[in-house]
Amino acid sequence: MNGLLGIATLSREEIQAILDRARDFQAPPGQRFPTFSSQAGRTVVNLFFEASTRTRTSFELAARRLGASAISITAQASSVSKGESLVDTLNTLAAMRPDAIIMRHSASGAPHFLQRHLEIPIINAGDGTHEHPTQALLDARTILDRGAKLEGLRVAIIGDIAHSRVARSNVLLLSKFGARIVLCGPAPLLPSELTQLAPGVTLTTSMDEAIRDAGVIMMLRVQLERQHEAAFPEGEYFQFYGLRLEHLKRARPEVIVMHPGPINRGREISSEVADSQKSAILNQVENGIFVRMAVLERVLSGGMNAGAAP
Ligand code: NCD
Repeated sequence: MNGLLGIATLSREEIQAILDRARDFQAPPGQRFPTFSSQAGRTVVNLFFEASTRTRTSFELAARRLGASAISITAQASSVSKGESLVDTLNTLAAMRPDAIIMRHSASGAPHFLQRHLEIPIINAGDGTHEHPTQALLDARTILDRGAKLEGLRVAIIGDIAHSRVARSNVLLLSKFGARIVLCGPAPLLPSELTQLAPGVTLTTSMDEAIRDAGVIMMLRVQLERQHEAAFPEGEYFQFYGLRLEHLKRARPEVIVMHPGPINRGREISSEVADSQKSAILNQVENGIFVRMAVLERVLSGGMNAGAAP
Protein backbone atom coordinates (compact mmCIF):
# COMPACT_ATOMS: atom_id res chain seq x y z
CA MET A 1 0.00 0.00 0.00
CA ASN A 2 1.28 3.44 -0.84
CA GLY A 3 1.71 6.31 1.54
CA LEU A 4 2.87 9.80 0.64
CA LEU A 5 6.62 10.26 0.80
CA GLY A 6 7.16 13.33 -1.34
CA ILE A 7 5.93 15.54 -4.15
CA ALA A 8 8.68 14.20 -6.41
CA THR A 9 6.81 10.92 -6.92
CA LEU A 10 3.32 12.41 -7.38
CA SER A 11 1.86 13.03 -10.80
CA ARG A 12 0.26 16.32 -11.72
CA GLU A 13 -3.12 14.56 -11.97
CA GLU A 14 -2.80 13.12 -8.50
CA ILE A 15 -1.86 16.49 -7.02
CA GLN A 16 -4.84 18.08 -8.76
CA ALA A 17 -7.16 15.38 -7.40
CA ILE A 18 -5.93 16.03 -3.82
CA LEU A 19 -6.35 19.79 -4.23
CA ASP A 20 -9.87 19.35 -5.62
CA ARG A 21 -10.85 16.97 -2.84
CA ALA A 22 -9.48 19.38 -0.21
CA ARG A 23 -11.86 22.01 -1.55
CA ASP A 24 -14.81 19.69 -0.89
CA PHE A 25 -13.82 19.66 2.78
CA GLN A 26 -13.53 23.44 3.17
CA ALA A 27 -16.11 25.27 5.29
CA PRO A 28 -17.17 28.88 4.65
CA PRO A 29 -15.66 31.42 7.09
CA GLY A 30 -17.41 31.51 10.45
CA GLN A 31 -19.02 28.10 10.02
CA ARG A 32 -18.15 24.98 11.95
CA PHE A 33 -16.07 22.46 10.06
CA PRO A 34 -18.24 19.59 8.93
CA THR A 35 -17.19 16.14 10.08
CA PHE A 36 -17.29 13.00 7.97
CA SER A 37 -17.40 9.34 8.82
CA SER A 38 -15.86 7.72 5.75
CA GLN A 39 -12.79 6.52 7.72
CA ALA A 40 -14.62 5.41 10.88
CA GLY A 41 -12.85 2.53 12.59
CA ARG A 42 -9.47 3.45 11.10
CA THR A 43 -6.52 4.46 13.26
CA VAL A 44 -3.52 6.61 12.41
CA VAL A 45 -0.39 7.14 14.49
CA ASN A 46 1.45 10.47 14.44
CA LEU A 47 5.11 9.84 15.24
CA PHE A 48 7.03 13.09 15.58
CA PHE A 49 10.75 13.16 16.26
CA GLU A 50 10.93 16.95 15.77
CA ALA A 51 8.98 19.87 17.18
CA SER A 52 5.67 20.70 15.54
CA THR A 53 2.56 22.67 16.36
CA ARG A 54 0.51 23.03 13.20
CA THR A 55 1.49 19.94 11.22
CA ARG A 56 0.89 17.47 14.03
CA THR A 57 -2.32 19.09 15.23
CA SER A 58 -3.75 19.34 11.77
CA PHE A 59 -2.98 15.73 10.87
CA GLU A 60 -4.69 14.71 14.10
CA LEU A 61 -7.74 16.89 13.47
CA ALA A 62 -7.87 15.80 9.84
CA ALA A 63 -8.01 12.14 10.87
CA ARG A 64 -10.73 12.83 13.44
CA ARG A 65 -12.81 14.84 11.00
CA LEU A 66 -12.84 11.81 8.71
CA GLY A 67 -14.09 9.67 11.58
CA ALA A 68 -10.72 7.96 12.15
CA SER A 69 -8.97 7.92 15.49
CA ALA A 70 -5.51 9.42 15.88
CA ILE A 71 -2.85 9.12 18.50
CA SER A 72 0.30 11.19 18.70
CA ILE A 73 3.69 10.16 20.01
CA THR A 74 6.65 12.46 20.38
CA ALA A 75 10.24 11.23 20.45
CA GLN A 76 10.78 12.51 23.99
CA ALA A 77 7.87 10.41 25.21
CA SER A 78 8.75 7.28 23.22
CA SER A 79 11.24 4.48 23.77
CA VAL A 80 13.59 6.24 21.35
CA SER A 81 14.68 8.14 24.44
CA LYS A 82 15.56 4.71 25.93
CA GLY A 83 17.86 3.90 23.01
CA GLU A 84 15.49 1.97 20.73
CA SER A 85 16.42 2.20 17.02
CA LEU A 86 14.11 3.86 14.51
CA VAL A 87 13.43 0.56 12.74
CA ASP A 88 12.53 -1.14 16.02
CA THR A 89 10.24 1.71 17.02
CA LEU A 90 8.46 1.53 13.67
CA ASN A 91 8.18 -2.27 13.75
CA THR A 92 6.74 -2.06 17.27
CA LEU A 93 4.10 0.42 16.17
CA ALA A 94 3.40 -1.59 13.01
CA ALA A 95 2.75 -4.71 15.12
CA MET A 96 -0.22 -2.86 16.61
CA ARG A 97 -1.54 -2.48 13.06
CA PRO A 98 -2.52 1.13 12.70
CA ASP A 99 -3.82 1.96 9.22
CA ALA A 100 -1.17 4.62 8.55
CA ILE A 101 1.86 6.15 10.24
CA ILE A 102 2.51 9.87 9.86
CA MET A 103 6.08 10.70 10.66
CA ARG A 104 8.44 13.65 11.00
CA HIS A 105 12.15 13.02 11.38
CA SER A 106 15.32 15.08 11.24
CA ALA A 107 17.02 12.62 8.84
CA SER A 108 16.35 13.26 5.15
CA GLY A 109 15.03 10.04 3.60
CA ALA A 110 14.01 8.40 6.91
CA PRO A 111 10.40 7.70 5.85
CA HIS A 112 11.53 6.43 2.42
CA PHE A 113 13.91 3.99 4.08
CA LEU A 114 11.29 2.79 6.56
CA GLN A 115 8.60 2.39 3.92
CA ARG A 116 10.77 -0.27 2.25
CA HIS A 117 10.52 -2.34 5.44
CA LEU A 118 6.89 -1.76 6.30
CA GLU A 119 3.55 -2.76 4.80
CA ILE A 120 1.73 0.07 6.57
CA PRO A 121 1.62 3.28 4.53
CA ILE A 122 3.80 6.12 5.77
CA ILE A 123 2.95 9.77 5.28
CA ASN A 124 5.94 12.09 5.39
CA ALA A 125 5.27 15.09 7.65
CA GLY A 126 8.77 16.48 7.01
CA ASP A 127 12.09 14.64 6.65
CA GLY A 128 15.20 16.67 7.43
CA THR A 129 15.94 19.17 4.69
CA HIS A 130 14.35 16.98 2.03
CA GLU A 131 10.54 17.14 1.60
CA HIS A 132 7.36 18.27 3.32
CA PRO A 133 4.72 17.22 0.79
CA THR A 134 1.53 18.19 2.64
CA GLN A 135 2.94 21.69 3.23
CA ALA A 136 3.37 22.19 -0.53
CA LEU A 137 -0.14 20.83 -1.15
CA LEU A 138 -1.71 23.21 1.37
CA ASP A 139 0.31 26.09 -0.06
CA ALA A 140 -0.98 25.34 -3.57
CA ARG A 141 -4.57 25.12 -2.27
CA THR A 142 -4.11 28.52 -0.58
CA ILE A 143 -2.70 30.18 -3.71
CA LEU A 144 -5.59 28.85 -5.81
CA ASP A 145 -8.13 29.99 -3.19
CA ARG A 146 -6.81 33.55 -3.53
CA GLY A 147 -7.67 33.44 -7.21
CA ALA A 148 -4.16 33.05 -8.68
CA LYS A 149 -3.33 30.61 -11.48
CA LEU A 150 -0.24 28.44 -11.06
CA GLU A 151 0.65 28.44 -14.76
CA GLY A 152 3.10 31.31 -15.33
CA LEU A 153 2.89 32.49 -11.69
CA ARG A 154 6.12 33.99 -10.36
CA VAL A 155 6.79 32.68 -6.86
CA ALA A 156 9.58 34.17 -4.73
CA ILE A 157 10.73 31.88 -1.92
CA ILE A 158 12.90 33.90 0.47
CA GLY A 159 15.00 32.88 3.45
CA ASP A 160 16.92 29.81 4.57
CA ILE A 161 16.54 27.87 1.33
CA ALA A 162 19.40 25.48 2.10
CA HIS A 163 17.68 23.89 5.08
CA SER A 164 14.11 24.09 3.86
CA ARG A 165 12.09 21.01 3.00
CA VAL A 166 9.19 23.42 2.46
CA ALA A 167 11.13 25.15 -0.34
CA ARG A 168 12.03 21.86 -2.02
CA SER A 169 8.49 20.47 -1.97
CA ASN A 170 7.08 23.77 -3.21
CA VAL A 171 9.60 24.00 -6.04
CA LEU A 172 8.68 20.47 -7.13
CA LEU A 173 4.93 21.02 -6.91
CA LEU A 174 4.59 24.52 -8.30
CA SER A 175 6.92 23.90 -11.22
CA LYS A 176 4.89 20.84 -12.24
CA PHE A 177 2.06 23.33 -12.80
CA GLY A 178 4.13 25.85 -14.77
CA ALA A 179 5.04 28.35 -12.02
CA ARG A 180 8.39 30.15 -12.27
CA ILE A 181 10.27 30.02 -8.98
CA VAL A 182 12.92 32.43 -7.78
CA LEU A 183 14.83 31.36 -4.67
CA CYS A 184 16.36 34.16 -2.60
CA GLY A 185 18.51 34.38 0.51
CA PRO A 186 22.04 35.05 1.72
CA ALA A 187 24.55 33.20 -0.50
CA PRO A 188 25.53 30.60 2.14
CA LEU A 189 21.87 29.60 2.43
CA LEU A 190 21.22 29.45 -1.33
CA PRO A 191 22.62 26.24 -2.83
CA SER A 192 22.97 26.43 -6.62
CA GLU A 193 22.02 22.71 -7.02
CA LEU A 194 18.41 23.68 -6.37
CA THR A 195 18.14 25.14 -9.87
CA GLN A 196 18.34 21.54 -11.07
CA LEU A 197 15.28 20.48 -9.09
CA ALA A 198 12.95 21.74 -11.80
CA PRO A 199 13.04 23.78 -15.00
CA GLY A 200 12.72 27.55 -14.64
CA VAL A 201 14.14 27.84 -11.10
CA THR A 202 16.43 30.85 -10.64
CA LEU A 203 18.47 32.18 -7.72
CA THR A 204 19.13 35.68 -6.45
CA THR A 205 20.62 37.22 -3.32
CA SER A 206 18.65 40.43 -3.92
CA MET A 207 15.30 40.66 -2.20
CA ASP A 208 14.18 43.49 -4.51
CA GLU A 209 14.87 41.35 -7.55
CA ALA A 210 13.03 38.38 -6.03
CA ILE A 211 9.83 40.25 -5.25
CA ARG A 212 9.71 42.20 -8.51
CA ASP A 213 6.68 40.85 -10.44
CA ALA A 214 6.11 38.11 -7.87
CA GLY A 215 2.52 36.91 -7.51
CA VAL A 216 3.47 35.04 -4.33
CA ILE A 217 6.13 35.87 -1.74
CA MET A 218 6.81 32.87 0.46
CA MET A 219 8.94 33.67 3.50
CA LEU A 220 10.91 31.02 5.39
CA ARG A 221 12.23 30.86 8.90
CA VAL A 222 15.98 30.73 9.46
CA GLN A 223 16.43 27.17 10.74
CA LEU A 224 19.15 27.83 13.29
CA GLU A 225 18.66 24.30 14.66
CA ARG A 226 20.01 22.91 11.36
CA GLN A 227 23.00 25.27 11.10
CA HIS A 228 26.25 24.11 12.55
CA GLU A 229 27.92 27.46 12.17
CA ALA A 230 26.44 30.91 11.64
CA ALA A 231 25.93 31.56 7.91
CA PHE A 232 25.52 35.36 8.29
CA PRO A 233 25.63 38.05 10.96
CA GLU A 234 22.33 37.48 12.70
CA GLY A 235 21.65 41.11 13.61
CA GLU A 236 21.67 42.12 9.94
CA TYR A 237 19.31 39.46 8.67
CA PHE A 238 16.09 41.47 9.01
CA GLN A 239 17.65 44.46 7.26
CA PHE A 240 18.49 42.41 4.15
CA TYR A 241 15.97 39.56 4.10
CA GLY A 242 13.12 40.58 6.40
CA LEU A 243 9.84 41.30 4.57
CA ARG A 244 8.52 44.76 5.49
CA LEU A 245 5.68 47.02 4.33
CA GLU A 246 8.07 49.04 2.12
CA HIS A 247 8.66 45.87 0.07
CA LEU A 248 4.94 45.32 -0.41
CA LYS A 249 4.57 48.87 -1.76
CA ARG A 250 6.99 47.90 -4.53
CA ALA A 251 5.32 44.52 -5.14
CA ARG A 252 2.33 43.71 -7.33
CA PRO A 253 -0.94 44.92 -5.81
CA GLU A 254 -2.41 41.40 -5.75
CA VAL A 255 0.70 39.78 -4.21
CA ILE A 256 0.04 36.96 -1.71
CA VAL A 257 2.36 36.74 1.32
CA MET A 258 2.85 33.25 2.72
CA HIS A 259 4.87 31.58 5.46
CA PRO A 260 4.70 27.93 6.57
CA GLY A 261 5.17 28.95 10.22
CA PRO A 262 6.38 29.15 12.86
CA ILE A 263 6.94 32.85 12.09
CA ASN A 264 9.63 34.86 13.83
CA ARG A 265 8.29 38.42 13.88
CA GLY A 266 11.04 40.96 13.40
CA ARG A 267 13.46 38.39 12.02
CA GLU A 268 12.18 37.28 8.59
CA ILE A 269 8.84 39.13 8.53
CA SER A 270 7.54 42.29 10.18
CA SER A 271 4.37 42.17 12.26
CA GLU A 272 2.68 44.67 9.93
CA VAL A 273 3.18 42.34 6.97
CA ALA A 274 2.31 39.16 8.86
CA ASP A 275 -0.97 40.69 10.00
CA SER A 276 -1.80 42.49 6.73
CA GLN A 277 -4.60 41.71 4.27
CA LYS A 278 -2.02 40.33 1.87
CA SER A 279 -0.94 37.69 4.36
CA ALA A 280 -2.42 34.23 3.81
CA ILE A 281 -0.60 32.69 6.78
CA LEU A 282 -3.71 31.67 8.70
CA ASN A 283 -5.43 30.49 5.51
CA GLN A 284 -2.47 28.17 5.05
CA VAL A 285 -3.00 26.76 8.54
CA GLU A 286 -6.70 26.21 7.87
CA ASN A 287 -6.05 24.57 4.50
CA GLY A 288 -3.60 22.25 6.22
CA ILE A 289 -6.54 20.39 7.69
CA PHE A 290 -8.46 20.07 4.42
CA VAL A 291 -5.45 18.96 2.40
CA ARG A 292 -4.46 16.42 5.06
CA MET A 293 -8.03 15.10 5.10
CA ALA A 294 -7.76 14.59 1.33
CA VAL A 295 -4.37 12.88 1.67
CA LEU A 296 -5.48 10.64 4.54
CA GLU A 297 -8.65 9.67 2.74
CA ARG A 298 -6.65 8.58 -0.31
CA VAL A 299 -4.01 6.74 1.66
CA LEU A 300 -6.52 4.99 3.92
CA SER A 301 -8.59 3.97 0.91
CA GLY A 302 -5.47 2.58 -0.76
CA GLY A 303 -5.81 5.19 -3.49
CA MET A 304 -2.45 6.94 -3.52
CA ASN A 305 -1.03 5.77 -6.85
CA ALA A 306 2.42 7.16 -6.36
CA GLY A 307 4.57 7.90 -3.36
CA ALA A 308 6.17 4.50 -2.89
CA ALA A 309 9.86 4.39 -2.14
CA PRO A 310 11.79 5.24 -5.32
C1 NCD B 1 8.15 23.96 8.69
C2 NCD B 1 8.83 22.63 8.92
O1 NCD B 1 8.82 22.11 10.03
O2 NCD B 1 9.36 22.14 7.94
N1 NCD B 1 7.04 24.20 9.44
C3 NCD B 1 5.85 23.56 9.17
O3 NCD B 1 5.77 22.38 9.05
N2 NCD B 1 4.77 24.34 9.02
C4 NCD B 1 9.11 25.08 8.56
C5 NCD B 1 9.96 25.49 9.71
O4 NCD B 1 10.13 24.77 10.70
O5 NCD B 1 10.51 26.59 9.62
